[in-house]
Amino acid sequence: MHHFILLLILAFTYFSQSQQQQQCLINGNNTQVRAGYWFSNSNHYSPVSQINTSLYTHLYYYSLSVDETNFVVTLPTEDQLPLFTTFSSTLKSNNPSLKTLLSIGTNEHANNASNSAISTMASDQTHRAVFINSSLQLARAHGFDGLDFAWQFPSSQHDMSNLENLLAEWRHSINDDAKNSPAVTLLLTATVYFSDHLFSEDSNNVDYPIDTISNNVDWANVFCFNYHKNSDVTAADAALFDQVSHFSTSYGIVSWLDAGVPPCKLLLGVPLFGRSWFLKNKMKNGLGAQVVAAGPRLKLSNQTGIMAYFEITEMLEDTNSIMIYDNRTGSSYFSNGGLWVTFDSLEVIEEKIDFALQNGLLGYFLWPISYDTINYTASRQAMNVWTRDYGSVAAGVEFGLKHGNSPVEFAAGGGPPPQSSRSVRNFQTIYAFHLCFYLQLFLLYYCASI
Ligand SMILES: *[C@@H]1O[C@H](CO)[C@@H](O)[C@H](O)[C@H]1NC(C)=O
Ligand SMILES: *[C@@H]1O[C@H](CO)[C@@H](O)[C@H](O)[C@H]1NC(C)=O
Ligand SMILES: *[C@@H]1O[C@H](CO)[C@@H](O)[C@H](O)[C@H]1NC(C)=O
Ligand SMILES: *[C@@H]1O[C@H](CO)[C@@H](O)[C@H](O)[C@H]1NC(C)=O
Ligand SMILES: *[C@@H]1O[C@H](CO)[C@@H](O)[C@H](O)[C@H]1NC(C)=O
Ligand SMILES: *[C@@H]1O[C@H](CO)[C@@H](O)[C@H](O)[C@H]1NC(C)=O
Ligand SMILES: *[C@@H]1O[C@H](CO)[C@@H](O)[C@H](O)[C@H]1NC(C)=O
Repeated sequence: MHHFILLLILAFTYFSQSQQQQQCLINGNNTQVRAGYWFSNSNHYSPVSQINTSLYTHLYYYSLSVDETNFVVTLPTEDQLPLFTTFSSTLKSNNPSLKTLLSIGTNEHANNASNSAISTMASDQTHRAVFINSSLQLARAHGFDGLDFAWQFPSSQHDMSNLENLLAEWRHSINDDAKNSPAVTLLLTATVYFSDHLFSEDSNNVDYPIDTISNNVDWANVFCFNYHKNSDVTAADAALFDQVSHFSTSYGIVSWLDAGVPPCKLLLGVPLFGRSWFLKNKMKNGLGAQVVAAGPRLKLSNQTGIMAYFEITEMLEDTNSIMIYDNRTGSSYFSNGGLWVTFDSLEVIEEKIDFALQNGLLGYFLWPISYDTINYTASRQAMNVWTRDYGSVAAGVEFGLKHGNSPVEFAAGGGPPPQSSRSVRNFQTIYAFHLCFYLQLFLLYYCASI
């Protein structure tokens, strides 16, 4: 009798673990992912041949778009074509174990036209089939190991149900493709909003299709930045924590986990850009200070209010500005005269990588690696922290995050309350899981002792 109970417990433990593992295998392998996006228009300052490929496991070519009239994947312009066709071979000649992925979606300077082309394509089964076919052909023809769907972002319930169809059909075609060719199965990933629930003005209460994402993509790249694009006060644009709103990386990641996506299907996004503003009063230069305009348009991003990590380090060195690390938000900032910049310093990168590890995520991605320093300082920091702390987490060692408050504690008063109690629920789930585990242990012990 006791043996029977013991067996039952063992079987249950094994079953629940193998269930978990099933979802975590990538092409049949357990993997950790340290990914980076490379912008296709950045070759003049970040040549593909100069990328230190040993710092990443996966690199993305970003990006190609969708043709508005026939819905095939659009090829790059003629001057960019050679770079595209040699992207994978160049990188793999430096690091044969590196995987490359072709990202298709709205690109950096997203305009309505490219987003509407994707939306239209996704809404029609024939268009989807043409699109999927052309994406597979392109990936195979140019040595890519996978495809990435970068729809930033679906904005209606209609878009979301089309996304469901698209991802399921794409997965089906990829599996068919693998049957017909001796090569390994192509990877399929998707970039997604920082939270599983969109709450921008033009998308009312739209949720991502959680099951479809869990079942059809190898992983999702969570866009953990751009929280305060249009703010009229200084703010941490990629805050790890926020005590008064849900615009934070911790809230976003926990929302995905709580919705039911397995942690091993998520990559945490780390921005290698900062956001800048001109201060109203340069003496008032903390977080929450009034601003009058977005910061200057600098060379690398060519966008107002965006500074590349490389440009930030140069400005810090040249001006001797004092960088401040804010332990409440898990973000860094500095001001230089009337200019104010928030960004992910090496300290912030460390904290975010540890956050990813503590939540059991598959890995992280850097956006974009084109903005790193010549020596790849930020990419190196991310990799070093990941490899340094990966083992500690597996061994159950606690290493302290530097922030003062857990993501579920919101300050009483001051600012709007969080809109959902999801993060709280998630912690309850984790708690229940642990309770179950210890109960099993206890029963095991009890059975063994009689
Ligand atoms: C999975 O692991 C096997 C054995 O280590 C290796 O031969 C194979 O290439 C791996 N597959 C992928 C997709 O990395
Ligand atoms: C690339 O990064 C690795 C790991 O940090 C380092 O050992 C190597 O020297 C770097 N290679 C170059 C060319 O900088
Ligand atoms: C783009 O979309 C936004 C929001 O949907 C809309 O307000 C704007 O007018 C559009 N711009 C163009 C050029 O169509
Ligand atoms: C896929 O595309 C190739 C080449 O563009 C074409 O030959 C083939 O017929 C297409 N297949 C389908 C099912 O559309
Ligand atoms: C920067 O952006 C402007 C306006 O969007 C564009 O005209 C210009 O060609 C861009 N410069 C570069 C180097 O891409
Ligand atoms: C970057 O690398 C160059 C050449 O290897 C070296 O001279 C320089 O000191 C490095 N800079 C930093 C900040 O490590
Ligand atoms: C956060 O920083 C403040 C001010 O520097 C310090 O007083 C506080 O102890 C820090 N909190 C933690 C948890 O490190």
